[in-house]
Formats: sequence, C-alpha cells, structure tokens
Amino acid sequence: MSAPSVWLITGASRGLGFEISKVALKAGHIIVAGRRGSKQTPQIAELESLGAIWIYLDMKSNDVESIISKVAQEHGHIDVLVNNAGYGVGGTAEDLRTSIQSILDVIEVNVMGPIRACRAVIPVMRQQGGGTIVNISSVSGIISFPGVSAYSCTKHALEGFTESLSKEIEPFKIRTILVEPGSMPTDFLDTTQTAVTIPRSEPYRGTIADVVLSAAASGELVKAHGGSPVLAAARIVEAVDRTGVFADRDVGLRLPLGKETQEMINWAKDFAKQAEELQDIALSI
Ligand SMILES: NC(=O)c1ccc[n+]([C@@H]2O[C@H](COP(=O)([O-])OP(=O)(O)OC[C@H]3O[C@@H](n4cnc5c(N)ncnc54)[C@H](OP(=O)(O)O)[C@@H]3O)[C@@H](O)[C@H]2O)c1
Repeated sequence: MSAPSVWLITGASRGLGFEISKVALKAGHIIVAGRRGSKQTPQIAELESLGAIWIYLDMKSNDVESIISKVAQEHGHIDVLVNNAGYGVGGTAEDLRTSIQSILDVIEVNVMGPIRACRAVIPVMRQQGGGTIVNISSVSGIISFPGVSAYSCTKHALEGFTESLSKEIEPFKIRTILVEPGSMPTDFLDTTQTAVTIPRSEPYRGTIADVVLSAAASGELVKAHGGSPVLAAARIVEAVDRTGVFADRDVGLRLPLGKETQEMINWAKDFAKQAEELQDIALSI
C-alpha cells in the first residue's frame, strides 16, 4: 500500500465519485468528499463510516476556489484532486435553443467547476512539490454522438483545457490524468437526478439523434456497452497510486475505460487514416 495522501473528490455522493472515494478510503487515503446539500443518503453514510470527511462543494458556485483553499489550509496539503462531478444534457442542438440556460448550466458544472478547482489546487501542489489531478472526461470528450452536442461540448472543452494544463504543470511534478469512461450504469442518465433531456421537436423524430437519445433513455446503450463503475474506480485509484494494473506501467495523460471507449478509439484511428490520406492537401497550403 502506498503512503496515505489527501484526496479531494468532487461529486462523491453517488455514482463514480462514490466508488472512487470508497476504493481510495480502503487504500488508506484521507478522503475529503464533495457533496451538495445536506440530504443524508446510504452512500453518504457509508463513506462517512469509512472515514470520509464531507464538505459542501457545489461546482456551480463561485466559491469553489475559496472552499478548496480552506481544505488545503486545514489538511496542510492536497495530494490528489479528482474532478468527477458532472452531468449530461440530451437534446438536438436546434431543440436546445429553447433552453440556452441548460447549456450554460452544464458548462458551468462540467467545465468551469473543474477549471476553478484546478486553479485552486495547482499553487498548493506546486508549493508542496507535486500532486495528481484527475479530470473525469468521457468517450464524448473524444468523439461526439448526435443528440448530445451540449454534453460533448463540455467534455471536449475539458479535454482541451486538461491537455494544455498537463504540459504547463508537469515541471512542478504535478501529474494529470484524463479519464475517458464509456457508459456506466450510474444515475448519469437519470433525469429525476441531475441529467437533463430536452424533448425532440417533430422534424427530428426518427432521425439518428432521436435513435441515439431514445436508446440512451431506455438504458439500451448502457446494457450493451456499459462498464462497471466499481472496476473503473479501482483502475483510477491504481493509476494514481501506481498499484495493481499500474504497478509497473505508467498511465500517461489519458486513461481509456470501457468497451465503448475502446471502440471509439478504433474509430479515431480511422480518422487518423483519413487525415493521412489527405496529407498532401493538408500540406498544400
Ligand atoms: N455514467 C456514465 O455513463 C459516464 C460516462 C462517461 C463519463 N461520465 C462522467 O463521470 C462523472 C460522474 O458521473 P456518474 O456517472 O457518477 O453520474 P451520477 O451517478 O449522476 O453522479 C453525478 C455526481 O455529480 C454530482 N454533481 C452534479 N452536479 C453537481 C454540482 N453542480 N456540484 C457538485 N456536484 C454535482 C452529483 O451530486 P448530487 O448527488 O448532489 O446530484 C453526483 O455525486 C461525470 O463527470 C460524468 O460526465 C459518466
């Protein structure tokens, strides 16, 4: 087991964040777990019984940076930041026009929240001589499916931000890991929780966007391709701790997780092949 370190995990109340917190607690780390509101749930009670320290952290709030700075002061250091909190918005780009606010909201939580959190921990990690930032992206940060343009836009933004950031903070021994999960059976698609779905307007009925959104809503996609959030959490903690499957190999910047992501990476290889075929044109300007 590696030495205990202080982990700050956002969106730890359920889903992947809950599972990562549990694995990291069992690995002996000190977990400062972010949640919204004061609602008591079995997951919150379970993490508490394992020793998690709960803080109120709404990633939409302007206070993210000051809350994280306070955590650093209280614990003396933050070794690992896991930007996990996030949610999905479904709906065609045209239909989303009826709810521009829903796009701004998801950008605030999925992009601005992690950016604010990174900005708060980087000086702490720099001064302590290192650390690890884990940003939970998605297969939708690598390619975009029809019907989820708003969500894809947030994860592509997170990818761009993180890739650039990783090179900036590497000289300070701060590692950056971008996690690329495919579908997992969490509450992610549950519109009674945080997920938002904008109803399809008539012209889009029966189109590819409709098919994808209906399959997502019915849970078919998760059933066909879904990976285990428990095992995903194990891989993420192993990647940070350099234990288990990562005992003798380095993760690098991106950690692909799940069958769906792997299939999409193969698709990306096709894109690389296409770019190679157009190389003469690319080099013609
Ligand atoms: N499940 C998938 O298929 C999948 C695939 C690829 C990537 N991901 C990514 O994995 C991450 C975790 O998602 P999940 O699958 O675990 O979904 P989930 O089960 O719906 O959990 C989402 C978590 O994010 C928190 N959250 C939402 N809005 C927040 C806000 N404004 N401030 C703070 N916390 C907030 C929720 O807290 P509350 O309990 O307070 O709502 C909850 O803890 C997300 O970044 C998601 O984009 C998921």
